[in-house]
Amino acid sequence: MYDGDIASVLISEQQIKDKVTELAKQVDEDYQDVGGDLLLVGVLKGAVMFMTDFARALPQPAQLEFMAVSSYGSSTSSSGVVRILKDLDRDIANRHVLIVEDIIDSGLTLSWLLKNLSSRNPASLEVCTLLRKPDAVQVDLPVKYVGFDIPNEFVVGYGLDYAERYRDLPYIGSLDPKVYTSGV
Ligand code: XMP
Ligand code: MG
Repeated sequence: MYDGDIASVLISEQQIKDKVTELAKQVDEDYQDVGGDLLLVGVLKGAVMFMTDFARALPQPAQLEFMAVSSYGSSTSSSGVVRILKDLDRDIANRHVLIVEDIIDSGLTLSWLLKNLSSRNPASLEVCTLLRKPDAVQVDLPVKYVGFDIPNEFVVGYGLDYAERYRDLPYIGSLDPKVYTSGV
């Protein structure tokens, strides 16, 4: 699949699986007290694979909500502009909310999202991201759960795309720069 476009596999399918199980266990322990009242907010479209696997690995029940925001077009660098493409269907006031993200890069999207969601008065608000890039570590963001810290490369797969492609790969790979420098 996508022959030659992937320079290397960064995180294998099995590594993702193990990490999802580990994160879900950790979250389950931390949310014992609210048992059953957890609301997962997945950020479309990138987090969709992580969200669905995470929810199934989570030992306690949780409700699933999705939000779609856009900070990037089809380019590989941040525009700094965040737009809501799809808002939550429900009120999150007094709910224990866990944002489920695919990747934090500059942290712009997340800091905007945290501000936006906390203004809706949830009982608690935490973040679980599968991937985090080095720039995000510099920014002071309250990210409680991180799957993998990865190098500053453009990655695709397991929900992450380049121009809407590669989301369906079961692993995370770094994209061969020729794909985005060829001007397609
Ligand atoms: P910021 O910079 O706001 O970026 O933290 C977060 C959003 O940018 C996208 N993003 C990527 N998407 N491969 C992708 O497919 C990447 O390497 C990458 N880095 C950032 C992503 O949508 C994320 O939610
Ligand atoms: Mg995203």
